[in-house]
Amino acid sequence: MSTRTETLEANPLRESLRLERTPEPCIMVIFGASGDLTKRKLIPALYNLSRERLIPAGFSVIGFARRDIGTDLFRENLLESVNQFSRSRPVQPAVWDTFAQGIHYLQSDFNDPSGYRELANLLDHLDRERGTEGRRVFYLATPPSAYPEIIQQLGASGLAKPKDPNCWARIIIEKPFGRDLESAIELNRQVADVFHEDQVFRIDHYLGKETVQNILVFRFANGIFEPIWNRRYVDHVQITVSESIGTEGRGRYYDETGALRDMVQNHLMQLLTLVAMEPPANFNANAVRDEKVKVLHAIRPLSEFEVDSYAARGQYGPGSIGAEDVPGYREEPGVNPDSNTETFVAMKLFIDNWRWADTPFYIRTGKRLPRRVSEIAIQFKRAPHALFGQAAEGMEPNVLVLRIQPNEGIALRAGAKVPGPTIQIRSINMDFLYGLSFGVEQPEAYERLLLDCMLGDSTLFTRSDEVEAAWRLLMPILNHWAEVTPTDFPNYPAGTWGPDAAHALIEEDGRRWRRL
Ligand code: BG6
Repeated sequence: MSTRTETLEANPLRESLRLERTPEPCIMVIFGASGDLTKRKLIPALYNLSRERLIPAGFSVIGFARRDIGTDLFRENLLESVNQFSRSRPVQPAVWDTFAQGIHYLQSDFNDPSGYRELANLLDHLDRERGTEGRRVFYLATPPSAYPEIIQQLGASGLAKPKDPNCWARIIIEKPFGRDLESAIELNRQVADVFHEDQVFRIDHYLGKETVQNILVFRFANGIFEPIWNRRYVDHVQITVSESIGTEGRGRYYDETGALRDMVQNHLMQLLTLVAMEPPANFNANAVRDEKVKVLHAIRPLSEFEVDSYAARGQYGPGSIGAEDVPGYREEPGVNPDSNTETFVAMKLFIDNWRWADTPFYIRTGKRLPRRVSEIAIQFKRAPHALFGQAAEGMEPNVLVLRIQPNEGIALRAGAKVPGPTIQIRSINMDFLYGLSFGVEQPEAYERLLLDCMLGDSTLFTRSDEVEAAWRLLMPILNHWAEVTPTDFPNYPAGTWGPDAAHALIEEDGRRWRRL
């Protein structure tokens, strides 16, 4: 063991990687800082980065929001949130005190130019006091309706431009990025009026998950998977992102959004592109994103007439999850009692290129499904010749499962001989578990993404053309579903695996959804 550690420590490449990962001190301005995202995700992530000394002492936060609270109360509220939501608890007082010294609050309306003047003064003051030297991240954590105003004000106040060539200004934009193709194009245009694309970081927190990044490592750092990662050996791919929770106090937002916009346009499309993309020439941001965009462009577009054959939607009614009875979607707070918003989507997609022609990709996501599980299953074809006849009857074709969460890991299902004097074959699992193999706690997705932004690495953020390509694909479905009112909603009880139409979608091809 010790030899291995010494080798790693002595490795100069590893040393430079480590050094590269510590950014210079900067200031993060969080617009909408009194909201949920700040307290549940952003501040806990920043606290943990500072606890692990991945961000330097001078790092500072300015909360910019409408609520009239001062810096002291803001800090107190954030401490409570970290105590409640951080992955490492309880908070270490010494770490918190140092971190909290850099936290400030500025009360302003988003459309008030004087608020941005005050912001500029505070930024200058902190630059001198904390050594941040004009390095800024602007984080849009407001409802999306406020994005255009804030972007425009950042432009008008001059804050979007770096003060001099040695410093930088970046903007992180939360999802949803637009609510359809047209609004995404418009938002991209508004952003481009003020920021250069390399200043823009569109966040999709799935890309910050360790297991999602590992899809690329698993595929491209190993020599043995790529040769079989194609239509010749793969029968089909299933991507499932299933949640057991309902709308969790976000009923109003969700009711205007629905599963297609909330999950498919971003998280599921990201998983799909990572599984299906070609190896990039190198691991820089544009090379990786070029390959992802190519996948989106190769997905066979649907016409509105085909939507019902390739996509199924559902909405949950009352039911039970585990031992708990839960209300139907229409009974959730903030949801219209006659709502036709979908809480479940299943789709079948084809990627029309040499690697994947005629290989279906089935994707599904929903709320109030029996359990929380996200995984990608690569289902391989049967062996070409049934050498073992009846003995192999209990064996399923090979499947490689990339488990995104929980029980993060990778499993390969294969056939093995049952011990005994005759040949009997059963399926067994070869299992790799992150927890067991590495024995370290996984960082939260936001930790990695916030750090990458401070380092100026946009590999794990979505580019403007990528966002638009994903919307373009979904438009026929959005249009068709907006035009044709569903007559059967609610069509799956909470605690079940979605509506009948979702099962029909795959079963008519002679396949089944995996039992999870
Ligand atoms: C968010 C969606 O982007 O992702 C939520 O808005 C969803 O509706 C969440 O619950 C799921 O994220 P995770 O990391 O819990 O899988």
